[in-house]
Amino acid sequence: MNQKIRWGIIGLGKIAHKFVQDLLLVEDALLCAVASRNLEKATEFQGKYKALKAYGSYEELFEDEEIQIVYIATPHHSHAELTIRALESGKSVLCEKPIALNKVQSQKMIDASRKNNQFFMEAFWSRFNPSITEVIEKVNAGEIGKVKYINADFSFYVEEQPGRMFDLNLAGGALLDMGVYPVFLSYALLGVPNKIQAISIKHSSGVDYQTAMMLTYDSAIAALFTSFASQSNMIATISGEKGRFNLNPVWHETSSYSYFKNNSNKEHKSEKPLTGFGFYYEILECHKCIKNEAIESRLWSHQNSLELISIIDEIRAQIDLKYPGE
Ligand SMILES: NC(=O)c1ccc[n+]([C@@H]2O[C@H](COP(=O)([O-])OP(=O)(O)OC[C@H]3O[C@@H](n4cnc5c(N)ncnc54)[C@H](OP(=O)(O)O)[C@@H]3O)[C@@H](O)[C@H]2O)c1
Repeated sequence: MNQKIRWGIIGLGKIAHKFVQDLLLVEDALLCAVASRNLEKATEFQGKYKALKAYGSYEELFEDEEIQIVYIATPHHSHAELTIRALESGKSVLCEKPIALNKVQSQKMIDASRKNNQFFMEAFWSRFNPSITEVIEKVNAGEIGKVKYINADFSFYVEEQPGRMFDLNLAGGALLDMGVYPVFLSYALLGVPNKIQAISIKHSSGVDYQTAMMLTYDSAIAALFTSFASQSNMIATISGEKGRFNLNPVWHETSSYSYFKNNSNKEHKSEKPLTGFGFYYEILECHKCIKNEAIESRLWSHQNSLELISIIDEIRAQIDLKYPGE
């Protein structure tokens, strides 16, 4: 019989509400339990999405032997500790991006995955987005020749509010919240850069508010930007010697891309409608890996997460952004 994969979710905030709706679309997923620091909140979430169990602490969910995989949807500062705790309880883990605050924490999470022989993946859902996946394949197949330039940003006006985004203690700020996406795109297509240059305007809370990043490779440059200060077009352009691809807005969760041959502006658009919000695809990847008894994904591996966070570490060093407790 095809056994369902039994999920637990911890941290019942904004993204957990979206993720769970995609989880319910996956045929062989079972929403076994949800946990909040507040039982009333967990019970409400349980009722809304028909979870089998609700817990008023994360620890109770970690101790539930029925859970196979935990989705961690808490603020950045807590990813490492909670992931390691879940792995040590014999669960697989899908942890929201960024994997952790820094490379040192990330390495400890990966070590815990290996030691406990449990699947672990950073929830970099864009890597599994059908349009982005196809563009990566086409670029790797040489369809636009050598990539010379990437232009990607992730910028929205975010109203100042109490909560994790403007809170240095919760490792808020544009870079970890949104800037990881343009950096991801450059890394996914060109790898680790030779040189990183970054500048930032800080918010009065100490988090980064507007951050610009230039990543230089042997024969390509990526110009990347992230901010909470204003809205951008949210198109990512990958430009090569023989043409270019645009990932259409909002590019990191896009349902289409466009191809332009050579220097032409004639657009060839490929539509790839999403199932759910698009978290569906990373969930399928978790299921595939768990069923194959793999502890990491080949599409978004431990090494990929480590290299990405190492780039972010260097950007943070340049803009002098440290989080408490680091
Ligand atoms: N993939 C995406 O598209 C996407 C989009 C947005 C965010 N994210 C990522 O998802 C994670 C959560 O983001 P979010 O927007 O869902 O945040 P959020 O709305 O603030 O929710 C985070 C949840 O974490 C729990 N939590 C645990 N310790 C906390 C603390 N000290 N302070 C505040 N909350 C705490 C809370 O749940 P309980 O009260 O239930 O314990 C809270 O509801 C972050 O890593 C973020 O970068 C990903």
